[in-house]
Amino acid sequence: MSTSKKVFVKTYGCQMNVYDSERMVEALGSNGYEQTATPEEADMILLNTCHIREKAAEKVYSELGRFKELKVEKPNLKIGVAGCVAQAEGEEIMRRQPLVDLVVGPQSYHRLPELESKLENGGKSIETDFPEEDKFTVLKNRPTGKRAPSAFLTVQEGCDKFCAFCVVPYTRGAEVSRPAEQILSEARNLVERGVREITLLGQNVNAYHGVGITGKEWTLARLIWELNYIDGLHRIRFTTSHPNDMADDLIEAHASCTKLMPYLHLPVQSGSNKILKRMNRSHTAESYLKLIEKIRAARPDILLSGDFIVGFPEETEEDFEDTINLIKEVKYGQAFSFKYSTRPGTPAAERAQIPESLKTERLHRLQDLIAAQQREIQDQMVGRTVRVLFEKKGRFAGQMVGKSEYLHAVHVTSENVAIGSLESVRITKSKSNSLTGELI
Ligand code: SAH
Ligand code: SF4
Ligand code: F3S
Repeated sequence: MSTSKKVFVKTYGCQMNVYDSERMVEALGSNGYEQTATPEEADMILLNTCHIREKAAEKVYSELGRFKELKVEKPNLKIGVAGCVAQAEGEEIMRRQPLVDLVVGPQSYHRLPELESKLENGGKSIETDFPEEDKFTVLKNRPTGKRAPSAFLTVQEGCDKFCAFCVVPYTRGAEVSRPAEQILSEARNLVERGVREITLLGQNVNAYHGVGITGKEWTLARLIWELNYIDGLHRIRFTTSHPNDMADDLIEAHASCTKLMPYLHLPVQSGSNKILKRMNRSHTAESYLKLIEKIRAARPDILLSGDFIVGFPEETEEDFEDTINLIKEVKYGQAFSFKYSTRPGTPAAERAQIPESLKTERLHRLQDLIAAQQREIQDQMVGRTVRVLFEKKGRFAGQMVGKSEYLHAVHVTSENVAIGSLESVRITKSKSNSLTGELI
């Protein structure tokens, strides 16, 4: 085993990619790699990519172009593309950008050590099959060193829902849940290393149905209850959920599981039943609103977050207004919104498209509304006492930054707060993207 090689990883896309990047660095550790934050220092550059929208995918090629000079200076520099663009485009990436040495999909990165070894003699490596073995079973145990107080943990991956706009079922493959034992042992490892908050991840995390430690299938709620018993773990979150998988036991957990935080990301995409149907979402605006009502009955202070697509094929002004009305009814504390982007291989890409200018106009209208709601909910925090998990130092001397239960960023100025500590803070001020408070 050689030592002291360095890998620079750049991560695009969703939180699952953030988690995967961490595991890729760990996997490359067995080939003697350590992570570096500077590409100039790297022996290997790895882009962990996202294919969800056209812009996301195109970014990869412009980023790759920027490494051309580095590769001239350092001919031994290896350049790899991982993640969802790797899965979707495979060897096409090497055709379009010949300086790429390695392409690896999201389900096969446990093979990175092998793939990297093949590059030694100037070879190229590509691995985008969905392998028979499960990557998490093959990957080694997590390391033991201290780490940041908040961590992601993938519990479910892939998707069988095939929304008409979405590439995820193709890039991540079929829906798979990890066994509970694997997850719990990983969670214990994280907590021993200083983690106080775990966000469980899945493309449809609430569809989790892994084998429990009793051998029976567990729901996400059952898994959360088990994590609730881990001493030293203070907070549990999960993302992303699908409305159709929001089971009663999960809603109930929001009412009674003390470590489960009052925040829920529950994308609806559109408020028009016609569009929802065309999107193959298998829920209606009404069923979504009913669900929100049920969730709020269980946990009245829950902060709701969502995703919206505007300008989906055949979206009329009336359909768009249905979305606006749904937003007005729900009142989101946070939301992500996107112009519909045609994705190769998805059903909606074949349909008649809405003009770009109309998409832009609708996006602005929607985002103005969301911004106002977000601001209003954030402003209501002033005067309240929240619990803050401190994650890092702020920009100013003595300033510390953490997150409230509701995922608002909170700043305090104090010499007495340690990273990883959970403190009561009275909110004194609401700024554009964060809150300011005082320790109690
Ligand atoms: N599994 C999650 C979503 C994963 S993708 C769910 O079902 O809610 C994250 C978000 O990207 C989606 O919620 C959607 O709003 C957006 N998105 C996905 N495909 C898109 C496309 N083709 N164009 C624009 N936005 C898209
Ligand atoms: Fe994509 Fe729909 Fe699956 Fe979410 S549920 S990952 S939007 S196909
Ligand atoms: Fe992007 Fe893949 Fe995540 S397409 S959003 S990185 S699952």
